[in-house]
Amino acid sequence: MKGRFITFEGIDGAGKSSHIEPLAAWLRERGHAALVTREPGGTPLAETLRELVLHQPMDALTESLLVFAARRDHLLKSIQPALDAGTTVLCDRFTDATFAYQGGGRRFDLKTLAQLEAMVHPGLQPDLTLWFDLPAAMAAQRRAAVRAADRFEAESTAFFERVQAGYAARAAAQPDRFTRIDASPSQPEVWTQVCAAVQALLR
Ligand code: TYD
Repeated sequence: MKGRFITFEGIDGAGKSSHIEPLAAWLRERGHAALVTREPGGTPLAETLRELVLHQPMDALTESLLVFAARRDHLLKSIQPALDAGTTVLCDRFTDATFAYQGGGRRFDLKTLAQLEAMVHPGLQPDLTLWFDLPAAMAAQRRAAVRAADRFEAESTAFFERVQAGYAARAAAQPDRFTRIDASPSQPEVWTQVCAAVQALLR
């Protein structure tokens, strides 16, 4: 049986990343093989592209091409082979992030993104997308408390409000695979929502 493809999405500071390793452990305890990976990244080539995307100035088309190039390499070398082997893949961000950040945040043309999506992963969508939803102002407070900002994290609250709207639009367009996680309560309460969503997928 093919593995499940689960993606984690949300604006920077929403807290999604802290649930990925615990979810992998939770799955393994229940007998599922699990691979944890991230985008941009997940292969040596894609990690190199990640460094460029996060730190070099570039326009929105270049940014979009680089994240999709990284995704192509990641899919061919890591995600698809794992799914074919029956492994559940937990991926920190995927194409919804491109629609949200490049499409929403940078206001880049959504039709071009849809063409790139169709070229890079025809017929493949996540089985479940956990969308960690948090108001942009709250996420900014959480980010400020934690770390130095990269090119995206340094953006304005208005930028993150557009990213947020980008996620909301994707979730409305593909409601079957999206589960909205209310990321505002404490970490244990968020974790309960994550487990419930994954349990529903595995049932
Ligand atoms: P992130 O998951 O936030 O990494 P970290 O937790 O280490 O900061 O991802 C890095 C950034 O990349 C994030 O700000 C969003 C951005 N990004 C895009 O702009 N487009 C994309 O397609 C992807 C996958 C990420």
